[in-house]
Amino acid sequence: MISLQSRLAPRAQGKQPSPIRELMRYLSIEDMISLGGGYPNPETFMLQQLDFAFKDGTQLTIADKDLIQASQYAPSDVLPALKKPLFEWQKFKDGVSLHDGQLVVLNGSQEGIFIMAYLFLDEEDFVVVSEPSYPGAIAAIKSFTKNFLAIPLDAEGMQTDVLAMLLRERQARGLKLPKFIYTIPTGHNPGGVTLSLSRRKAMIEIAQQFDLLILEDDPYQLLQLEKTNLLPTLQSMDSEGRVVRLDSFSKIFAPGLRLGYASASPEIIQQFVYFKQSSNMHTSSLVQKLLGEYLEKTGLANFFSQVQQNCQLYRRNRDAMIAAAQKHLPQSVRYNSPTAGMFIWFELPAFCDSSRMIEQYAADLKVVLVPGTAFSTHAGLRNYMRASFSMVSPTQIEEGIHRFALMIENELNHQTR
Ligand SMILES: Cc1ncc(COP(=O)(O)O)c(C=O)c1O
Repeated sequence: MISLQSRLAPRAQGKQPSPIRELMRYLSIEDMISLGGGYPNPETFMLQQLDFAFKDGTQLTIADKDLIQASQYAPSDVLPALKKPLFEWQKFKDGVSLHDGQLVVLNGSQEGIFIMAYLFLDEEDFVVVSEPSYPGAIAAIKSFTKNFLAIPLDAEGMQTDVLAMLLRERQARGLKLPKFIYTIPTGHNPGGVTLSLSRRKAMIEIAQQFDLLILEDDPYQLLQLEKTNLLPTLQSMDSEGRVVRLDSFSKIFAPGLRLGYASASPEIIQQFVYFKQSSNMHTSSLVQKLLGEYLEKTGLANFFSQVQQNCQLYRRNRDAMIAAAQKHLPQSVRYNSPTAGMFIWFELPAFCDSSRMIEQYAADLKVVLVPGTAFSTHAGLRNYMRASFSMVSPTQIEEGIHRFALMIENELNHQTR
């Protein structure tokens, strides 16, 4: 197993558990009289009963002792009622058995990206990301360092051969190696691509060879648009505790609840827990309770199959967008048909300036996409745009892509004027 202390940024070194929070484990001992905690008395809580109805027919009532648990402060890692369901969920979908101390519930996976950057990155540190990358990750990382090693994507995801070459070169020149690789292995945002099995293996090998951590940010794992089996997660391929995996319920349950979790070696998760203790104490007890009860009552297989059913909507929309792109866009526009996720990444002819195109034409043509620069570590990717097919109907997709084609035509005319 890898050593952690030397990798931590100075701000994260020498952290001690919160002395009061650490006493919580005594509270589950029968007949314990606690004069210790500063908890408010549950008799003063305002909630009486919560009734939830789910689209699959599951009904839940949270009352009495359960409601007190859902209303009270909770451990910083995971509400006891959610721990078993999440351990089973990881086993069910990834075949990975997590043990005590290997999981911490987060306010969405975004919090996990921020914590990872906080723990490991100082101003002079380097981090590997894909170019393009998810803007939320770029922003979180930029809070600590601007030193990105940006690796291009192709249809198989991050180009691991380019990464290996770059690292070999840096090593040979005695330059600092990065602290970790940030990767979005499935249905990349914005690239739409999924990291192939051989690239996953290569990434693990690279991490081993150059002694790096990997941050596996996988919120689109279950938004599968083809009926193929899930690829093994990087975490499932890691034997040295190098992978920190982020799972999110945003795309498969509801994003507004802010529910995700990190799983990794106990040493790394302990650091995440220290962060939680000193920032927001823990993720909402109520939403943890809700998810835990729901997973227990509905069953994992049932939940999984509902997520699969929901994918039909995204599949239909992906198909509509690809069909519209084939029909309306000029041959010079390149794109992949994504097998997972909710995005298509369009490469426009080199003369296109996507930010300018949006500024000039979006209001008149009534179509908006995200310009490529939003996904670049250095304001590059000017001739790219991201389209999302998640929130629109097939009819809107057809019309939206038609308008996008007009936007490209306008840009072409602008250039030749
Ligand atoms: C790649 C990626 N990571 C993380 C997030 C944040 O997800 P969450 O809602 O779980 O914080 C998103 C959201 O769009 C995303 O696309």
